[in-house]
Amino acid sequence: MPARQAAPKRVLRPGTNLYPLPAVLVSCAAEVGGERRENLITLAWTGIACAEPPMITIAVRKSRFSHGLIAASREFVVNVPSADMSLAVDLCGSISGRDADKFARAALTPSPAGVVRAPLVAECPVSLECRVRHTYEAGSHDLFVGEIVAVQAAETVLDADGKIDVALVDPLAYGGGWYWRLGERLGAYGHSVA
Ligand SMILES: Cc1cc2nc3c(=O)[nH]c(=O)nc-3n(C[C@H](O)[C@H](O)[C@H](O)COP(=O)(O)O)c2cc1C
Repeated sequence: MPARQAAPKRVLRPGTNLYPLPAVLVSCAAEVGGERRENLITLAWTGIACAEPPMITIAVRKSRFSHGLIAASREFVVNVPSADMSLAVDLCGSISGRDADKFARAALTPSPAGVVRAPLVAECPVSLECRVRHTYEAGSHDLFVGEIVAVQAAETVLDADGKIDVALVDPLAYGGGWYWRLGERLGAYGHSVA
C-alpha cells in the first residue's frame, strides 16, 4: 500500500466532529392530551448498533416534541430520504410538531407501517420500523436503542436480487452544517485484500 502524507495536527475542543452523518426523517406517534399526534423529526445522530438482532440508535434532545412521543409509544420509524428531499428534511428539522403538522408542511405522506403504529414516510425509499429496547440518558440527548422489527423498501431501489441498491436510494448526508450527496463508488468491502 502506498504511504500517505500526514498533516500536522491542532488540538481542538471536544465536539461532535464526525463526518459524514446520515440525515434521516424519524416518524413517531402517540396520544397527547387524548389526541393522537403523528410527527416527524430530522436527525443526523443515528447509527446501526447491532446485527442480531438488528438495532439502531437515535440521539434525541429531551426538549424535542418527538422525544415525548417516542418515550410514550416506545416506537419510531427511521425513514431514509433521497438527496433530492433536502428541503423537506431541513424543514422537519427547523420547526416543531408542537406548533405544526410537519407531514402537511413538508408535503410528505404518512402511510401505515407494517408492524409499528407510527406511520412511514411514503416518499422515503427506505424505512426501518423500530421498537425501543433501551434508553440511555447521555446528557442533553437521550439515546433510544431501537430493534429494527421491519424494513420497507421502494421497489424502485431494489436490484435484480431484491436487495437495496444504495446508489438508487441516493441517500442524503449531513456534515459541518451542510447537506451533501454521496460521491463516486470507491471499492467494494474487502477490495484491499481481494
Ligand atoms: C440536519 C439536522 C439534523 C438534526 N439532528 C438532530 C439530532 O440528531 N437530534 C436531535 O435531537 N435534534 C436534531 N435536529 C434538530 C431537530 O430536528 C429539530 O429541533 C426539530 O425541530 C425538532 O422537532 P420536534 O420538536 O417536532 O420533535 C436536527 C436538525 C437538522 C436540520
